[in-house]
Amino acid sequence: MYFNSPRKMSVKPKTNIADLFQNAKDSGTYLKICAPMVRYSKLEFRRLVRKYGVDLCFTPMTMTDSFCQSEKARQVEFSTSDDDTPLIAQFAANTVHEYLSSAEMVYPYVDGIDLNCGCPQRWAMQSGFGCALLKDPELMRDLTSTLRRNFPSDFSISVKVRVQKPLAQTISLCQQMEKCGVTFLTVHGRTPKQKIKDPSNNEFLREVKQSISIPMVANGDCKTLEDGDEMHRIIDCDGVMAARHILSNPTLFSGKYDTTPLECVQEWLNICHAADQNIVFSVFHHHLTFMMEKLIQRKLRGPFNSFTKKQQVFDFIDTELGLRPQPIYVPDNIKCVYDETNYRNRLNDLKIETTKKKREAYSSENTPGKFFLEKAKEDLEDSDCEEEELFQTNMFDIV
Ligand SMILES: Cc1cc2nc3c(=O)[nH]c(=O)nc-3n(C[C@H](O)[C@H](O)[C@H](O)COP(=O)(O)O)c2cc1C
Repeated sequence: MYFNSPRKMSVKPKTNIADLFQNAKDSGTYLKICAPMVRYSKLEFRRLVRKYGVDLCFTPMTMTDSFCQSEKARQVEFSTSDDDTPLIAQFAANTVHEYLSSAEMVYPYVDGIDLNCGCPQRWAMQSGFGCALLKDPELMRDLTSTLRRNFPSDFSISVKVRVQKPLAQTISLCQQMEKCGVTFLTVHGRTPKQKIKDPSNNEFLREVKQSISIPMVANGDCKTLEDGDEMHRIIDCDGVMAARHILSNPTLFSGKYDTTPLECVQEWLNICHAADQNIVFSVFHHHLTFMMEKLIQRKLRGPFNSFTKKQQVFDFIDTELGLRPQPIYVPDNIKCVYDETNYRNRLNDLKIETTKKKREAYSSENTPGKFFLEKAKEDLEDSDCEEEELFQTNMFDIV
């Protein structure tokens, strides 16, 4: 499919992602990358990790159907500021017109677009998103080559995949993506069937890297800077991406601390205090739950997890850690303006109707999320907090 899309002026200076990889390689090193994480890799967290050695950030995965159809979805799912660069927007897509339209709308604010082909959750697979795309290389080619044709060649187009067995399938897919002109690939060293507790396979990642010429980011089980260095050495990758362990220690890539230091909690308090209404309570709170795992006694974690108000959190951290938010300067969020014209024209061309219901029904995160709930359940074992207390409270008040 071919679409002609008019070029739009960028409102944020662009970083050339291919150059970023090349510069790292020329210096004998690799890019340190904060993974796309639903709920968590948002503007304020990106601001935090960039202070601690992260070279490149991804937004959380956003569904292209909601992004195209709902202004509310766009406002809730995406925010940025002048200091939020380099930045890649990740989408879950299964149609070319929605993928291209979403990419065009967000183009002025980011340095690249990434296609999620790694989400193994059942709802995503059933709807043909995430890992389901790994079984449809033709659609993957269509999605990525359409973007490549419609954006400047120095604008990054990338894909995130998981390894599959036999590995030859992954190698073939990555080679096809290279032919479609993607700027780089991220490969997660677990198969779609593997659980997050299973080890990520660096040997597989090395084989994939050897089979392609574009930069490759290795993902899976990077817990420390030493792990990142080791992955770089073994796999010869161009970047290392961390997810769960950068949540528990945002300073991971600085190599200075094995666990989150107090100064990082202080930074987070300051960033969130400055963000004020721009950050929802649950995001502010969950990050502290992950970061403070080693900083507060186990028996206090349950009660902490059940908090529902910012002030409760501030008071607790003041009492337990002696930290209070300090005023800092942060650049204002950019007022993102999205142009739906191309999307509407494509719907007309393709004779697709969107229902008013779908356009207006967008509701953002209204459950605490599996990742947080699993951590919170572990913490309950050793605390005095009642399970009901934690799960019956509305943890999604926007404070
Ligand atoms: C809370 C959470 C949210 C995630 N959201 C996304 C996402 O939006 N897009 C994506 O491609 N992967 C997502 N992932 C997967 C990670 O990016 C990464 O591939 C995976 O966790 C393996 O890396 P790790 O071993 O460093 O955790 C998510 C993982 C976690 C823990």
